[in-house]
Amino acid sequence: MSLARYIIGFVLIITGITASARQGQLQNVYARKHISLNGRWNYIIDPYEMGYYDYRHEPFDQSKSGKGGFYDDRKQLDKADLVEYNFDLSPTMNIPGDWNSQAEKLELYEGTIWFRKLFNITPVAGKKYILYFGAVNYEAHVYLNGKKLGWHKGGFTPFQFDVSDKLKAGENVLVVKADNTRKLDEIPTINTDWWNYGGITRDVLLAELPQSYIADYKLQLAKGDATHIAGFVRVEGAQAGTPVSVNIPEAGIKITVKTDAGGNAAINIPVKKLTLWSPENPKLYQVEISANTDKVADKIGFRTIEVRGQDILLNGKSVFLRGISMHDENPLIPGRLRSAGDMRMMLNWAKELGCNYVRLAHYPHNEQVIRLADEMGLLVWAEVPVYWTISWENPATYQNAEKQLTDLIERDKNRSSVIIWSIGNETPLSEPRFKFMSSLAAKVRELDNTRLVSAALEVHRKGFDVIVDDPLGEKLDLVSFNQYGGWYWALPKELPKYKFQIKYNKPVVITEVGGGALAGYHADEDTRWSEEYQESLYKYQLPFMSTMSGLRGMTPWILVDFRSPRRQHSYFQDFWNRKGLISEAGEKKKAFFVLKDFYQEMEQKYK
Ligand code: GCU
Repeated sequence: MSLARYIIGFVLIITGITASARQGQLQNVYARKHISLNGRWNYIIDPYEMGYYDYRHEPFDQSKSGKGGFYDDRKQLDKADLVEYNFDLSPTMNIPGDWNSQAEKLELYEGTIWFRKLFNITPVAGKKYILYFGAVNYEAHVYLNGKKLGWHKGGFTPFQFDVSDKLKAGENVLVVKADNTRKLDEIPTINTDWWNYGGITRDVLLAELPQSYIADYKLQLAKGDATHIAGFVRVEGAQAGTPVSVNIPEAGIKITVKTDAGGNAAINIPVKKLTLWSPENPKLYQVEISANTDKVADKIGFRTIEVRGQDILLNGKSVFLRGISMHDENPLIPGRLRSAGDMRMMLNWAKELGCNYVRLAHYPHNEQVIRLADEMGLLVWAEVPVYWTISWENPATYQNAEKQLTDLIERDKNRSSVIIWSIGNETPLSEPRFKFMSSLAAKVRELDNTRLVSAALEVHRKGFDVIVDDPLGEKLDLVSFNQYGGWYWALPKELPKYKFQIKYNKPVVITEVGGGALAGYHADEDTRWSEEYQESLYKYQLPFMSTMSGLRGMTPWILVDFRSPRRQHSYFQDFWNRKGLISEAGEKKKAFFVLKDFYQEMEQKYK
């Protein structure tokens, strides 16, 4: 390739990177004036990425040829032109929605699918327009009216593009290249125990904002201090000294502060009579923020969370986290959770179990689930997919993990239900892993010192000792780990022979425990896969875990059976992980009631 093409290519790559979704994300996009671009999108399956590379494997969007890829969606062509794709004649699918659950041949598809949405708009002069994606799994390249906006990596976090000067009056053409191919150096890496749902799996919105708008804010009680609301408001396009008002009518709060040269205004509000948020009383306050001509409202709960010795203190009182783990998947209609409807179904099952807490494994869930948890009174463990055997020594992999962690914290920093940021799950011990994870833990504390930081640590056994001495424990607020006594090791009835050896004097929150059962398969308690075996496992595990003096919570694995390409037993699994307490038909297995009884006891004990 000529030097000129290298240079152009390099410039375009840089442009592509800088033009990628790098700007801070819009806080609370749903409260902003917006049009939804959800609905039926045309799609073209492209396993060889013909829409992105020419036959010499040169990316079209970085070549001078002028020949576009699938993104330029040219409609008026000379009939002599050879064009081997056409969105108008292509099938459609529901967006948001993973593609795996929308077409039989896409159930296990890994690769690229191109999506196209036509939409009409009359841009208003002087307004800003932000194109917002709730999530695309895993890598997205986005084009508007044939021009590349940029790209984004990470299957579970939002990203956006400023399209204020790229919209046309009338019909606009939005094209997305989504690629869910698993890769060694990505986050997650190639081996996970969940379905690799690909595509535009969360909302696509076009927000309309004034030239100067409230881009971001954080309003939460200061760490361990119920007498002050601390945080900030950032106003895009504001002069220094711009007044910013924060109004919480029900708390008798109305303050005005001024922005600095960067558009930031620090918030520190003394409060006297706030009703603190808790699972028992999930009190949310209407918060109104205004600056220049912009205003935005949000519903925010205020609470404190901290650890002291082996206690977790919610609003200063020791709490036991009666939890359950869950994936972002609807068991009844397989696929990612689609809307408030199926999300509420999942959280209602958790409430039925007696939970005050959920572990949203193993990646950022939909923002709407977190907002529902705020409303329904469920504490949340939120997590990034730093899962298993990550490429610890690849700097780009670390940057990716840190970006996904940052985006998660930025998005949900105002949600009172979120009490723990988890930096990963079951990552094998090594020096590079310790360095990688320690940096992530430090990043959490830099971004948000009001919440706890944790991870599912490594655990090992020596004889009948179950030992937790993972060095990463030093960096975390909790001792959390997965232990599968009665399933992957020992039989349920052998558990009383074992004992836990925990290196750290910190609260213990078990992140996974459990075993599989095919709902409706009944046998004696020694017969694996029967409901009776799973029931027996819980009957032995609960008193076994209670032998730990520092036990302050658990999230057994898992609320409901979920799909996984790793679970091939054709009779008992059929590509389902059967550790759910509820089946994919919504049937509660016998173990559900064992845990429910235990949680009733713990609720009384911690009243
Ligand atoms: C692991 C892992 C889960 C997995 C579970 C299992 O601990 O964290 O993601 O699904 O075990 O084996 O079912």
